[in-house]
Amino acid sequence: MSSASFDGIPAFAIVSFMAAEKERILTGDTPTGKLHLGHWVGTLENRVALQHEYDLFVISADLHALTTLKDDPARVRDYAREVLLDNLAVGLSPDAITYFIESDVPEIYELAAFFSMYVTHAEALRNPTIKDEIVAKKLGTRYSLGFINYPVYQAADILCVKASLVPVGKDQEAHIEFAREIARTLNARIGYELFPEPQARIGRVGKLVGTDGNPKMSKSLGNTIFLSDTEEEVTRKVMGMYTDPARIHATDPGTVEGNPVFIYLDAFGTDAHRNHIEEYKARYREGKVGDVEVKRFLAAVLNEFLSPIRARRETYAAQPDLLRDILARGAARVRAEAAETLKELRRGLKLTPIA
Ligand code: TRP
Repeated sequence: MSSASFDGIPAFAIVSFMAAEKERILTGDTPTGKLHLGHWVGTLENRVALQHEYDLFVISADLHALTTLKDDPARVRDYAREVLLDNLAVGLSPDAITYFIESDVPEIYELAAFFSMYVTHAEALRNPTIKDEIVAKKLGTRYSLGFINYPVYQAADILCVKASLVPVGKDQEAHIEFAREIARTLNARIGYELFPEPQARIGRVGKLVGTDGNPKMSKSLGNTIFLSDTEEEVTRKVMGMYTDPARIHATDPGTVEGNPVFIYLDAFGTDAHRNHIEEYKARYREGKVGDVEVKRFLAAVLNEFLSPIRARRETYAAQPDLLRDILARGAARVRAEAAETLKELRRGLKLTPIA
């Protein structure tokens, strides 16, 4: 090997690679519903913050959505559109990010097929997120083989573009750990670092409480405030929120800690609201303010936060050609990347060429 090359790669290629490439992030959503405030604090906020510094890929995992929508698959397509709009509405720039639908990139499933040979059945079933989902989605024992295999697909989502960072909510941590294990196993098998070991980046609030006080805001629990809710819907949901159950009269001293109304105020209030929020907390603790007044304030704070999101959503919704173009560009780029990754994997596993 000459000193001007490394592993057969000419030095100039390495230099231009280093100059041109930003580190890659991949994250995404399952299109089984519109995105809500929990998604904002869990992952969307990080996407927006990191989109220019990194090369950001966002996947809409439509196959995964069939876990709950296999008998009504047309809804997956409708939700996929809503979820794309949600991502654009929060401020992701179509020029900065690569957005794609999983099933538009069949190479992901081919990669997942290879990965699945290196995961034991027991490992797949041990995944704590899979166990939680079986309970939360009331799947009983009727879950599909594809559902159990889903973390393998998710690893392929991430590793097909060799992403090293994955901004997700706390509930996804086990899946990222699983992807890391697959990367490690295959790298060891191949003998060099084909795949990065992706790291999870957990959001500011790993898990957001629901409007009903359930520890997790989730569409299956019906305790969400959607990013696309109207002002009236937000106000109605806030006025019906769970607060401190021990407090009956406005003059009873109330508890701020763990109270969803104050958790949301802390999560969505801006610096401009900070003094006001602290004042409300003090008055609440002393029994000097009623729930209704605090809730009205929260509704105003949330509507202020959501107002530009609603406006951007409308702008994008009116441009179907742009949406189609975003998806086409995303799929083309990721297909090319994933095909290259597959080629490297086959070469690394010495499956090809035969002669
Ligand atoms: N499973 C994730 C969720 O339900 C969505 C997802 C699919 C994802 N593929 C991904 C997230 C890859 C991060 C990376 O929220």
